[in-house]
Amino acid sequence: MNDNTLGLGLLRQPKSVLFGPGQRRQLPLIAKSIASSVLVVTDARMAASETFHEIRSGLQAQGIAVSVYAETEPDLPRENVLAVVSRYATSATARPIDAVIGIGGGSCLDLAKVAAVALVNQHDVREYYGEFRVPSPGLPVITVPTTGGTGAEVTCISVVYDREKGMKLGIASPHLEPYAAIIDPELTLSCPRGLTAATGADALSHLIEAFTAKAKNPSPEEIATKLYVGKNRLTDLFASHGLALLNTGLPGVVRDLHDVDARADVMFAAYCAGMAINTTGTAGAHAIQSPMATYSDAPHGFGVGALLPYIMRFNLPARVDAFAEIGRIFGVADASQPLVDQAHAAIRRVEALLETVGAPLDLKSIGIRPEHFEAIASQSMQATRLIANNPRALTHEAVVAMLQKGYDGDRSWWEIE
Ligand SMILES: [Fe+2]
Repeated sequence: MNDNTLGLGLLRQPKSVLFGPGQRRQLPLIAKSIASSVLVVTDARMAASETFHEIRSGLQAQGIAVSVYAETEPDLPRENVLAVVSRYATSATARPIDAVIGIGGGSCLDLAKVAAVALVNQHDVREYYGEFRVPSPGLPVITVPTTGGTGAEVTCISVVYDREKGMKLGIASPHLEPYAAIIDPELTLSCPRGLTAATGADALSHLIEAFTAKAKNPSPEEIATKLYVGKNRLTDLFASHGLALLNTGLPGVVRDLHDVDARADVMFAAYCAGMAINTTGTAGAHAIQSPMATYSDAPHGFGVGALLPYIMRFNLPARVDAFAEIGRIFGVADASQPLVDQAHAAIRRVEALLETVGAPLDLKSIGIRPEHFEAIASQSMQATRLIANNPRALTHEAVVAMLQKGYDGDRSWWEIE
């Protein structure tokens, strides 16, 4: 059954995407075409690496003035954005900055995207929390990811942790769309096993949430004013290809962290996931994971991964067709069998992939306790945009029930047999 009655195809994307082992060496020429003075945003670990030294020298060899902010912290605190704006918005640099390059994991890329608009507009990032709140374009941004997971290299959203508000807030705006993404799988070769697993689980959750999202059949006005307008032909193209790549890529990369082909497949899948969620948005697993982070030190990818078995089971009655198709993409479902059996096989395969990378499949092992359930459920229901994306209507009671199943690690049930 196809509920995309408009036959819609819609993507939001960078102007250029360059993918492949070694393609980071193209960065200086792409930067030179738009800038003579750049701000590179990264973290301390990356800034100390030989690879970073090479990238910086390559930019300078093209006559580009390079400023470096290397203090990006995990879970991007708002203070990092304020620091970049106060340091680089004025004449503090010899030449005014005219492009921002983000090199690193999701936090570094998110900081590059949001700083690029904050630098021009000289705003506190707080003014941007929400959807379509950024008033005008910023500096062009080039993203260079070093993990295969978040998809932040192509999305027009940044997530900031606001310490005073005690929560993470999203800034979603077409003005955050990067100018170019340079995706080089060689940059992930040194990514350690735990981080590889967590970012891989995140990419898998993005692909599942995008492919099982609702087709919203948006009006012309909604297309013009909303970022997340539902599953469509183009998001399906990316999500289905990403799922096929992760199906073999994730087991390959945990078998050998230095397997460049497997690294490339996982990184391409993460890119596909970013392309898909940039139009569909994420859904229930992401709505519930965000408040869970208050009680759990588990990385984002392990949090959403641990929720997947339960939210997939909950969503199954609303998306039997899509889950069955995932089963066929994974090669674990027989098209001659009933759709519900194919869908069950897909969900079991997602769990097997999570298990293969060593991602937790229950909530107890990541620190969630029954006394947290009510608060997590209440806060997740406030993530109204993500809740609205979920294919089956979520209620406070349904979230609490899922948290209980997740805590017990109870995967013995199906909503439909
Ligand atoms: Fe995510």
